[in-house]
Amino acid sequence: MTTNQEFEARRDKAVARAIAYSTTFVADRAENAEVWDVEGKRYIDFCGGIGCQNVGHRNDRVVAAIKDQLDHLTHTCFQVTPYEGYIVLAERLNALLPGDFAKKSLFFSAGGEAVENAVKIARFYTGRPGLITFTNGYHGRSYLGMALSARMVPFKQGFQPFPGDIYRMPFPDAFHGITMDDTKRAFETLFRSDCPPDQIAAIFFEPVQGEGGYNIATPELLTYLRALCDEHGIVLVADEIQTGMGRTGKMFAMEHYGTSPDLTCIGKSIGGGLPISGIVGKAEMIDTVPPGGLGGTFGGNPLACAAALAVLDVIETEGLLQRGLDMGAQIDSRLHKMAQRNSFDCIGDVRALGCMNAIEIVKDRDSGEPDGDLTAKVVSNALKNGLILVTAGPARNVIRLLVPLTASTEVVEEGLDILENSLEEALA
Ligand SMILES: Cc1ncc(COP(=O)(O)O)c(C=O)c1O
Repeated sequence: MTTNQEFEARRDKAVARAIAYSTTFVADRAENAEVWDVEGKRYIDFCGGIGCQNVGHRNDRVVAAIKDQLDHLTHTCFQVTPYEGYIVLAERLNALLPGDFAKKSLFFSAGGEAVENAVKIARFYTGRPGLITFTNGYHGRSYLGMALSARMVPFKQGFQPFPGDIYRMPFPDAFHGITMDDTKRAFETLFRSDCPPDQIAAIFFEPVQGEGGYNIATPELLTYLRALCDEHGIVLVADEIQTGMGRTGKMFAMEHYGTSPDLTCIGKSIGGGLPISGIVGKAEMIDTVPPGGLGGTFGGNPLACAAALAVLDVIETEGLLQRGLDMGAQIDSRLHKMAQRNSFDCIGDVRALGCMNAIEIVKDRDSGEPDGDLTAKVVSNALKNGLILVTAGPARNVIRLLVPLTASTEVVEEGLDILENSLEEALA
């Protein structure tokens, strides 16, 4: 048997050091909400490959669909030879996306590619250059992705210069003291001074900021953005790459708000573990781009489309949206109980939208000062105790939970016990 340590040494010799690791082991196999390493140790997975396993690792129906697709075709390039899976996936997503307008879809491989292509569509449709995004937003690692994203270190530092015509607005966030008035004032100043609204092609936002720390958009923000976009002919783009596909107890997080964006970017969990992303949205906007303007070799690969169709089947027929709401409530209530313990004054905030749960770790509740060191200790203790966690937020002091929606109540409780014990150990 090759040990974790041996693999680590080989990894460090062979793999670029720019790839940073959240865990200290090498994975061997995974099942639903559990992962085993090459030494046979079991971990509960509250990360799911950063939100890619809403239907659980190696979901039976997803695996069966991929195997079946393997016996038909693996790749032709949709632009060269179209195939059924891509077309059916587009039909199904068009039907699922709320909004009273004609819809179309197109597919890519990584989430960041969907974002890039949403920029292309918005600029083509409006004929304008400007893009608006938010503090603590995250949209990928490509050049446009970096430029649209907020966090400098380690995502952007040293990679400058970035594409221009991008303006960042404050994301209203009660816990961090940013009000809706701050946001409105920033928009007014931008339009008055730096860039008039008729030069803005699109506003990009996440309904719940993922990488940025699980900051949940207020209904007021979305009503304001929709009105602004309607007034000025700006394309409203929801980046649902992390929030979509049942994560918040709705197929799309925007269903919580009753506001329809023009374009929605999806990725991560739609592939059930295979790489696929896409844009679903207003046909009249998407179809302004003429044939040949968008595409890519692997976008909407047949295996990934087969997996995505199975993911939708699982979410729809196994009641995963209700399960997401129930599980999210179970986790939220347990996290609130933890926060009420006198010794846990370091839990500054507990946040949730459906099953997108988080705690923010602070030095103490009075100051609200982020405590990234304590958070790192909790995550490392949890790993030692058999639980995979990932952090978020500019100070890495938010523990975000992306539990597979198919996890059993017992496994979720076991994972939460480990989280609580790991926090106790970190404070000892
Ligand atoms: C909201 C959001 N947008 C875009 C991306 C980029 O997706 P990918 O890493 O698949 O390119 C991510 C990835 O974490 C994300 O969370």
